[in-house]
Amino acid sequence: MVGGLRNADDFREAARRRLPRLLFEYIDRGAEDELALGALRRSLDEIQFMPRMLTGHPTRDLSTTVLGQRAELPIIVAPTALAGLASHNGEIKMARAAAKAGIPVCISTQSITTIEEIRAGAPAAMLWFQLYVWKDRSLTRRLMERAAAAGATTLVLTVDTPVVPNREYNARNGFSIPMKITPRATAEVMMHPRWLFGVLLRYLLSSGMPVYGHYPKEFRAAMTRPSVANAVKLENLLNWDDLRDLRQWWQGKLVVKGIFSVEDARKCWEIGADGVVVSSHGGRNIDSAPPTAQILPPIADAVGKHIEVLADSGVKRGSDILKYLALGARSVMLGRLPIWGLVCGGEAGAHALFEMLKTEIDITLSLLGARTPGDVELLLPRAASR
Ligand SMILES: Cc1cc2nc3c(=O)[nH]c(=O)nc-3n(C[C@H](O)[C@H](O)[C@H](O)COP(=O)(O)O)c2cc1C
Repeated sequence: MVGGLRNADDFREAARRRLPRLLFEYIDRGAEDELALGALRRSLDEIQFMPRMLTGHPTRDLSTTVLGQRAELPIIVAPTALAGLASHNGEIKMARAAAKAGIPVCISTQSITTIEEIRAGAPAAMLWFQLYVWKDRSLTRRLMERAAAAGATTLVLTVDTPVVPNREYNARNGFSIPMKITPRATAEVMMHPRWLFGVLLRYLLSSGMPVYGHYPKEFRAAMTRPSVANAVKLENLLNWDDLRDLRQWWQGKLVVKGIFSVEDARKCWEIGADGVVVSSHGGRNIDSAPPTAQILPPIADAVGKHIEVLADSGVKRGSDILKYLALGARSVMLGRLPIWGLVCGGEAGAHALFEMLKTEIDITLSLLGARTPGDVELLLPRAASR
């Protein structure tokens, strides 16, 4: 346990105290009126388990295989931009913690530390790479080659973010990429000396102002400088032919993240993707997006026999993970929770968070009389029934 932190809310609250408000809210909050965030929570809370008694299992087995790799837990660290701001060299620490827990970690295109540096710092990590397609396809392809060379086995193509989503608090707080030094932001940072000295100043003294590490040198702008060049703007016109191209270019496993409809999941399968992530991006993009629990069952039914269906968004407890698994997910991605772990205790903090979830899953399985997540039976509200 890290400093008496017993559940996800404890970690979140401790992180809130440690981080400047502009960074905490960037990580924690959702889009617009945060309807999607509320819907995620409600949809998970209204699902119940049907316990079975007298099953007499002496031990539980939480291991699984995902995209051809064995994992000790049905968890994957989701890609999160700027996770390196949560802790100095945070992305390396996260990869090390995930390796220790025996789970894959997906590195964002917009991480601060490059995938090569993360590989060097975490040789045992099961690295995946998340791709935002840039306007310049040759630069995009070069980025994919770097990910492959660093040993990323799975490419996660994110398709749900064609534009910067509307999150007004970021503007109010003065948080933008590139970062702008406003009086308000500066005051906030000064009021959080642990973050100022432990994270920001350490970057400033070693490598300078933190930047998106994967952006090509000639385009890389310190976050305090004007916007990145056109070539590395996120492609807002992605279509199915782009997915076909990526399938040709990428030799490893290919997963499409941000799928809501059965039709789109089928198309991904037909084009040769190995998996999809059913996700509302943690309630951060479309504010009236349907919650994962609602759309996961029909997608899993339609394509789950052919490709792997992963899920994310809104997870707070081990029991939430079991619910997504029982609704048809093969494994569950976690975005915010591992970041809170990093903020609270670096590598050890992220690892403690994985251990906490493992314990929660294990206790829930035991109480349900289940040996594996596959044994779990749900009592569904009408809208979510499979
Ligand atoms: C701070 C933050 C940054 C994120 N950056 C990315 C990103 O760069 N690429 C991406 O595909 N998803 C990104 N996401 C979404 C996560 O991958 C994931 O879908 C989401 O966080 C899951 O919800 P949860 O945070 O409730 O677990 C980000 C999420 C957060 C919280």
